[in-house]
Amino acid sequence: MTTRPAPYVRCAVCGETWPRLSPRVECPCGGLLEVVQDPRHSARTLRARFDRRRSGDPSVEGSGVWRFRELLLPGRGPVVTHPEGNTTLYRRDTVARWVGLEDLALKHEGENPTGSFKDRGMTVAVTQAVRAGATAVACASTGNTSASLAAYAAQAGRPALVFVPAGKVAAGKLAQALAYGARTLLVRGDFDTCLRLVRETAETLGVALLNSINPWRLEGQKTIVWEMLQQRGWDPPDWIVVPAGALGNTSAFGKALREAKQLGLIRRVPRVASIQARGANPFYRSFRTGFRKRFRVQAETVATAIRIGDPASHDRAVRTIRETRGLVEAVSDAQILEAKAVVDGSGIGCEPASAAAVAGTRQLVRKGLIKKGHSVVAVLTGNLLKDPDAVMGFHARKGRWRNPPVEIEPRLSDVERVLKRRR
Ligand code: F0G
Repeated sequence: MTTRPAPYVRCAVCGETWPRLSPRVECPCGGLLEVVQDPRHSARTLRARFDRRRSGDPSVEGSGVWRFRELLLPGRGPVVTHPEGNTTLYRRDTVARWVGLEDLALKHEGENPTGSFKDRGMTVAVTQAVRAGATAVACASTGNTSASLAAYAAQAGRPALVFVPAGKVAAGKLAQALAYGARTLLVRGDFDTCLRLVRETAETLGVALLNSINPWRLEGQKTIVWEMLQQRGWDPPDWIVVPAGALGNTSAFGKALREAKQLGLIRRVPRVASIQARGANPFYRSFRTGFRKRFRVQAETVATAIRIGDPASHDRAVRTIRETRGLVEAVSDAQILEAKAVVDGSGIGCEPASAAAVAGTRQLVRKGLIKKGHSVVAVLTGNLLKDPDAVMGFHARKGRWRNPPVEIEPRLSDVERVLKRRR
């Protein structure tokens, strides 16, 4: 038998071998193949290498939030962490080209433990609530906050109560809240109604309120910006683009940049662009009046995460836009879904609200407000799997990106027929 450089492929039955680039997956004898690795490595070298390469560990030290703990919630006491953060800053040419930029990075907060950026705020807010003696926690939510709260409450051993708009929460998010054991109330009303009800409930029943009006949530969410800056060697991009609903993130980003500048972690403050859905655009309308007026709208959009008509953090978000010389833009549902198809098709994927950031970036480039030479980081706030119905609905409809599944009889001729057909 020939000796081959490892790793190579060997039949587990007859022992025949093939080189590693062989397209074979089965042996002619019918046996299954196995990969043979080089047995001559030194254990000491390997251990040292593996230890050096290990990025996260399941403790406070491994968290992309608590790494910055001096600037969040210092002090002794238990920390309720999964851990979270350490999300990827992606570069994908197909997305950058579609947007019209050369230097576009996507910070994928959908890689957090419950699939959205909410975990960064929740780990700090639940930790603070536990230290402060909370016996139960509650929130109103368009879905992601409730999923995150439910997970962190379960870990902390505290009952969770969540209020979500009936019929307007994506399937993945509702499933999470139930699975993690939160008492889940489907309120006949929108998010803004849910928020009013949970505020009353928290006040009356003495339950800790963990919506983004809770300042500790914003402390945790600052780390999206800090971690991104650290990933770039503390060299700020020209723009940070973020989808906007209740405006907690927009507010947290402003605070993160203000503090980073004051502390001397960065010399220059990037501009923040907040993107709303056209059907849920009170902040955009306010921006158009130079923030002289505040609006409340009846919100409707396919991006249910940001289906919010009266954003609670309006005032502190205004400060972010003013201080960073930022912008607010609004995009249609069709633009959101097209952007989502582009991000999904790049192999990364995100939920509809996240795609608003990408659609908004493209629109701002087209308007010439973001220059083609600018560096931009767009934040993908939630995971593709959060909203499977949005994906299935989109691919069932006509359009350039359409990719519907095809049901067939189990025979080769059906496969051939389908492969010949256009989508
Ligand atoms: N993207 C996603 C995926 C969200 O879930 C949210 C908000 C936003 C963007 C907007 O962020 O509210 O800070 O301006 N979701 C909240 C929730 C409202 O209840 O899950 P924001």
